Amino acid sequence: MWRSVRIVPGWKHTETVVSVPADKSIVQRLLIMSLFCRGETRIEGSGFGSDCISTARAVGMLGAEVRLECLGGAIRVSPSPEGLVQPEGEVYLGNSGTGMRLLSGVVAGYPLDVTLTGDESLMRRPMGRIADPLRRMGAQVDLLGAGERPPVRIRGGRLNPIRYELPVASAQVKSCILLAALFAEGETEVIEPAPSRDHTERILMRWGVPIQCRGNSIRLRGYGRGGPHFPAGTWRVPGDFSSGAYFMALAAAEPGRSIWVRQVGLNPSRIAFLEVLSRMGAEVTVDREPEGEWEPAGSVHVSGQRLRSVEVSGEWIPRLIDELPLLIALGTLAEGHTIIRDARELRVKECDRIAAMGEALRRLGVEVQEFDDGMQVSGPASFTREEVVVDSQGDHRIAMSLAVLASYAKAPVVIRNAACSEISCPGFWELLSSCGVSVEDAG
Ligand code: S3P
Repeated sequence: MWRSVRIVPGWKHTETVVSVPADKSIVQRLLIMSLFCRGETRIEGSGFGSDCISTARAVGMLGAEVRLECLGGAIRVSPSPEGLVQPEGEVYLGNSGTGMRLLSGVVAGYPLDVTLTGDESLMRRPMGRIADPLRRMGAQVDLLGAGERPPVRIRGGRLNPIRYELPVASAQVKSCILLAALFAEGETEVIEPAPSRDHTERILMRWGVPIQCRGNSIRLRGYGRGGPHFPAGTWRVPGDFSSGAYFMALAAAEPGRSIWVRQVGLNPSRIAFLEVLSRMGAEVTVDREPEGEWEPAGSVHVSGQRLRSVEVSGEWIPRLIDELPLLIALGTLAEGHTIIRDARELRVKECDRIAAMGEALRRLGVEVQEFDDGMQVSGPASFTREEVVVDSQGDHRIAMSLAVLASYAKAPVVIRNAACSEISCPGFWELLSSCGVSVEDAG
């Protein structure tokens, strides 16, 4: 794995085709929710990032038998007949916020004493947002880190339904509550300030769970103590739209470049970035696979153009939350002021993404304004003409956003801490180089 990479600006191809590894949001939900199934769940996809592997290991610590078929591109999970068993020691979730928050919801339904921990970055992430609703439902939740941070210790058991208005739009918190609600007697309602990704709801619907989604409200009738039991089966997971977005952006800002991103997830709650690319002037065509699967998928074609700036805020933010660092990178190439607001959440992701992008862009010679809840860049920016070193700060989305931007820069860019791309997009650097970008190992 490369610790640092050097990107030499330019693109050797003008037209290319790429497919990306399986969607980590969906894979992790299936891993966790397979704990409700009797028999073996098979999760198929074209490659699994390290967040998926961390969550698979955690599910294994909770009593499931987990097998990774590397060559076949599948993970097989057979839970223990009791559902969950008391783990020996703390359950480690690596970098995975989705793993920690969603698993907390399931663990809360069992009379166990479980402590969830993670790597340095996960240990800095706010967990008060899941502790509050789980406590209201009746679980005992202790946040053992300072300032409501992990480790998260959960002593679960009998849960009550709740009506809960989420203070921030977060699919992880929503999903945590919905998974716990499966163990409550009666109806739980979660109200979101704005719609966020709905993968959990779609899996539950495919199992026939009585769940109603209307506007920003989701209602779910629980199964009571012991929780639900669903039939095991096979799930084919599409490529991760968020990983595909880096390749779309690679073509978007230069006339003459174009790319096909094949077999990628097209869940409407995830693809606002396509609308943003169109608003910026790129040519976007979507070729949908026939509907019928529980998650829509298809191929996306992007042709580059001279881009114009864009402003995003409000309800747009949760629908493109993971693409915002990439968007600000593209903003430096677009004519006018690109502005992101209402995105305070970026400060509590795998790193403070506003500060990390601000620092890297300044090193590249770009003027950036940081706000508490967003940022602004004015383009097209003039990049420095000398080699620059930037740092991903160990955040996969920062590393990959900077890689795309470096392909448009004026001099080579060294990206430190580059291996973190494995968290969501294993093989990212090889894929980038197969697309014609010059990627060198910089030690
Ligand atoms: C995710 C939800 C989002 C997103 C994260 C994955 C999920 O986080 O940023 O990468 O799988 O539900 P929030 O729910 O905290 O917004």
